[in-house]
Amino acid sequence: MKQIAIFASGTGSNAEAIIEYFKGNSSIQVALVVTNNPEAGVIKIAHRNKIISAIVSKSALNDPEILGRVLATLNIDIIVLAGFLQLIPGYLLQRYPNKIINLHPALLPKHGGKGMYGMKVHEAVLANGDVETGITIHYVNERYDEGEVILQKTTDITLGDTSETIAQKVQKLEHEWFPKTIEKLLL
Ligand code: GRF
Repeated sequence: MKQIAIFASGTGSNAEAIIEYFKGNSSIQVALVVTNNPEAGVIKIAHRNKIISAIVSKSALNDPEILGRVLATLNIDIIVLAGFLQLIPGYLLQRYPNKIINLHPALLPKHGGKGMYGMKVHEAVLANGDVETGITIHYVNERYDEGEVILQKTTDITLGDTSETIAQKVQKLEHEWFPKTIEKLLL
């Protein structure tokens, strides 16, 4: 059985889409949800689905003897960042080479980097007058949003689009393509 760990800081709609997608799968399962935010919606989603969740402080995240040990004990094969807002520590990058992936709600290298998350990204897309946007799934390295791209999917921006309608279009792409891409990487 391949084991997925999802790291998320917020609502967790992508975490939920991933959990739903792998339900009943005989070779891949979501084994752990990690969050740095005790208020994160993703904790309830994990509980509802009987998945272990861990709330980690910054120091626990950065400690190989704490989070590192949990991931090793659960035999985690891939770490999936689904709206996780903290930088991944070096020991995890070394232990999981090309096994940590992130989802960004725009077409990197556009509209990425520290502080570019959530609605800020879609507002920047609109302000820039872009004619399309989309999602980027990429490997994680020591800098925000700079690892090698695995997959991009685009959606058009049309007259009358607002940051909210753009967010909806992007989220649709995320829920469709993130689980499929994780599966492909694990097979
Ligand atoms: C998504 O837009 C993802 O691209 C970004 O953070 C957001 C998380 O949303 N990295 P949710 O918590 O999965 O709803």
